[in-house]
Amino acid sequence: MNLEKKTMEEKVQEQRNADRGKTIEVNDLYVTYNVRKKRKKAKNQAGDDECVHAVNGVTMDIRTGEILAVVGESGCGKTTLGKAILNIIRSSSGTIKYHGQDLSKLSGSQLQSLRQKMQLIFQDPYESLDPRQSVYKALEEPLDIHRKDMSPEQKKERIYKYLEAVGLHPAETMAQRYPHHLSGGQRQRLSIAATMILEPDFVVADEPVSMLDVSIRAEILKLMLDLQKGTDLTYMFITHDLSLAWLIADRIAVFYLGKLVEIGQADDVVHRCMHPYSQALVSVIPKIREEADEDKGHVLRGETPSPMSIPSGCCFHTRCWLYQEKGCPEVCRQKEPALVTVGGDHQAACHFAGPEEKGGDLHG
Ligand SMILES: Nc1ncnc2c1ncn2[C@@H]1O[C@H](COP(=O)(O)OP(=O)(O)OP(=O)(O)O)[C@@H](O)[C@H]1O
Ligand code: SF4
Ligand SMILES: [Mg+2]
Repeated sequence: MNLEKKTMEEKVQEQRNADRGKTIEVNDLYVTYNVRKKRKKAKNQAGDDECVHAVNGVTMDIRTGEILAVVGESGCGKTTLGKAILNIIRSSSGTIKYHGQDLSKLSGSQLQSLRQKMQLIFQDPYESLDPRQSVYKALEEPLDIHRKDMSPEQKKERIYKYLEAVGLHPAETMAQRYPHHLSGGQRQRLSIAATMILEPDFVVADEPVSMLDVSIRAEILKLMLDLQKGTDLTYMFITHDLSLAWLIADRIAVFYLGKLVEIGQADDVVHRCMHPYSQALVSVIPKIREEADEDKGHVLRGETPSPMSIPSGCCFHTRCWLYQEKGCPEVCRQKEPALVTVGGDHQAACHFAGPEEKGGDLHG
């Protein structure tokens, strides 16, 4: 993909961003879906719901002005986490703060006014676009809902400004079109314009290019990065593609079965990864594997366990190559590893992660 990794100048800017504070703080967040309710056999018998443990005790922050990539296999809870942070779905427990405000303590009207500041870019632009609405209407609608203070002329000016900003020009012509007149790339540009028109400061981009042709992915990513330049816009960028995450993100958070297993600067997580799961993901990226001095190929074996029955101890132990190499230590089966600092701005959740690699004390 023709997209350059960041220059030193951009990295200095990132560092400034890192010092700017936290847009989102997530603390011990759980999200559970109840999926099946068996018919109660007797009147007083308890209901028998099955629970999908989609997000399991996640604590992390998202720093103002950064791109935090959230990476992991299908079903590991990336979308659920993004939607819970945006308050689109209800969390089971834990807290989410936006610029220090606990979302659970806000009133309905306060949440409504926050909604324009926290937006979602969908994977499939069709999901967010009404086929019966013209391009103009698609952009006017969010303004009608959230910016009742704007006059029709102000709205028109802003709609044309954002059509140009996302490369849908000439704006006057594009405004009259309908989604079915647009190519996949143009539809995603429109959906990005509909997100950005409210000038949010936090955007969850859920696999925003995975449904597009490879040839136009870089253009859309570049557009998202251009819209961020010179602003405090913060992205949570969801992807299952670790190499893409490395290319565009400041930091990467790796998830497995709804748990955060590693988080740190993108270069650290990819080139100096500490968690055996991240190491397995990295080892299948050809370019990075070529750059490595030694062959660190670690194949992931077996199926991901069901999120309805998460393995005891370290949830990764059923597939962990290091667990096998270490002779199946009891601590991995019995004790959940905490997320610990393994260097600088880098954390991992493995009993054997970190420079000392001592392994956990089962009773500690
Ligand atoms: N509405 C729902 N009801 C029940 N289970 C759900 C629901 N939405 C998601 N799940 C389940 O929760 C788990 C996490 O799903 P989620 O969509 O958050 O994962 P994901 O990492 O975004 O996956 P993908 O990469 O495929 O998009 C999965 O097991 C999924 O089947
Ligand atoms: S704690 Fe044990 S099972 Fe879990 S990742 Fe580390 S070595 Fe593997
Ligand atoms: Mg998803």
